[in-house]
Amino acid sequence: MPNNEFGDFQTPIELARTLVNTLPRRQWTRVLEPTCGVGNFLSVVAHSHPGAERVGIEVQPEYAAAASAFGRVITASIFDFDLARDIEWTSERGPTLVVGNPPWVTNSQLSVLDSANRPARTNIKNARGIDAITGSSNFDIAEYIWIKLLTEFADRAVTIAMICKTQVARNILLHCSRHTLPVTGSSLRLIDAKKWFDAGVDACWFTVELGPGKIDYTAQTYPSVDSVHSTTRIGAVDGQLVANVDAYERSKQFDGVSPLMWRQGIKHDASAVMELAESNGPRTKLGSVVDIEQDYLFPLFKCTDVYRDKLQEVSRWMIVPQSHTGDDTAQLAEHAPKLWKYLIDNAAALDGRKSSIYRNRARFCIFGVGAYTFAPYKIAISGFHKIPQFRMVGPYDGKPAVFDDATYLLPFEDPAVCAVAYALLTSQETSDLIAALAFWDSKRPVTKKLLQRIDLAAIARATDPANLRDRSAATAAAHGLLFETASLTRAVDDARGRTL
Ligand SMILES: C[S@@+](CC[C@H](N)C(=O)[O-])C[C@H]1O[C@@H](n2cnc3c(N)ncnc32)[C@H](O)[C@@H]1O
Repeated sequence: MPNNEFGDFQTPIELARTLVNTLPRRQWTRVLEPTCGVGNFLSVVAHSHPGAERVGIEVQPEYAAAASAFGRVITASIFDFDLARDIEWTSERGPTLVVGNPPWVTNSQLSVLDSANRPARTNIKNARGIDAITGSSNFDIAEYIWIKLLTEFADRAVTIAMICKTQVARNILLHCSRHTLPVTGSSLRLIDAKKWFDAGVDACWFTVELGPGKIDYTAQTYPSVDSVHSTTRIGAVDGQLVANVDAYERSKQFDGVSPLMWRQGIKHDASAVMELAESNGPRTKLGSVVDIEQDYLFPLFKCTDVYRDKLQEVSRWMIVPQSHTGDDTAQLAEHAPKLWKYLIDNAAALDGRKSSIYRNRARFCIFGVGAYTFAPYKIAISGFHKIPQFRMVGPYDGKPAVFDDATYLLPFEDPAVCAVAYALLTSQETSDLIAALAFWDSKRPVTKKLLQRIDLAAIARATDPANLRDRSAATAAAHGLLFETASLTRAVDDARGRTL
């Protein structure tokens, strides 16, 4: 069982060997394994580069003793150690390799453990950026160690290759670009952390080359440790992190502000009460018929329905007791007595909602509701799924569809405008921009912020109007939307002029 305080996951030797094998073939004269544990990387390098001077640093003495079979091991905490000054190399300065696997733990996890094994707030002199990360309480210790290495070794030709979370690797790329560190190339290979460490994190083998040469803040990404071909390049472009640099180059002119406002679906935190099944009319999950005023019931689709295109028929209903979060619900007693009775009967669940957003609000209130909720036509996308799938949704028997809060949507009154927006959102330009901006290992890869950056007007202007009209008409026909050709022509013109 790993020791949490030390972020202790020793790298299996087989993995260390595979990882070292991916490094460029170079005659390293010096090899450092910071936080070396039992020295698995030192042992691999002892075989691959027997002539290199090998040094390890490790805080736990038993580990340091074990690792000293493969090199000189300094028993010390890396946090108190000046890597540029205190190592006392005996070899000539030459190509230097840093390899390893820094602790897998965040500063805030360490404070929960009441651990002293953490860096002091500003214990690195002239470490640009380190104060910024130690200023945030939840920084990753591995990120701190990366920045320490990059800062203290910025004066020499060095290859730093370490296992870390993919999020840490991305932060480091951005750090390097923001601080114009002399990085000439990097790569990122995804590691199956479940298999090798039984850890449920997105981890990678991240390699950064520091030294003289042309500066490059992009990293070739490989889907696995032993893949030969890189799939994409991630990197820092114009001061921001981009998931796919090539897709970004193709689509950056569409990275702007959406002329339409993206919305999130409805949040109520009470699915047992507010969501009803469809079975010859709305019923509770336990199967009892719910008899309430029709005006407050809407066809409900969840993000998974949106993703899987399970939108053909109504399988659930949502009770929408307000038109705006601020509406007074007490008037329902008079205007919708059956709904009011249902809400009162289920008051325990609704009044017991934990989130503070419900405090000091109308009783039984919901969030993510406004005029847009009741627009008849919508384009919806799931925020949870890894492949962006936009869906066009019209009304069901005259009732507009509503969505859960893991779904994002654009509302439309006019089906022609909806069809044009759909054609723009399913274009190559949009898919390039999303590929460039979405990090698929995040919990919610598609965010409202990302969608809001898609400048549909710029895409419309870059598209031949006749082609856009044809594509819009085809998608409208496929969805059974009816409107006049003239309104489509107008919608295309409006899209090009930002007045969509
Ligand atoms: C993820 S393990 C990796 C060990 C080794 N590099 C490997 O790949 O097998 C992290 C190691 O960092 C050591 N460690 C934790 N805090 C440290 C510190 N402040 N200074 C030096 N080593 C530390 C732990 O004892 C542990 O051996």
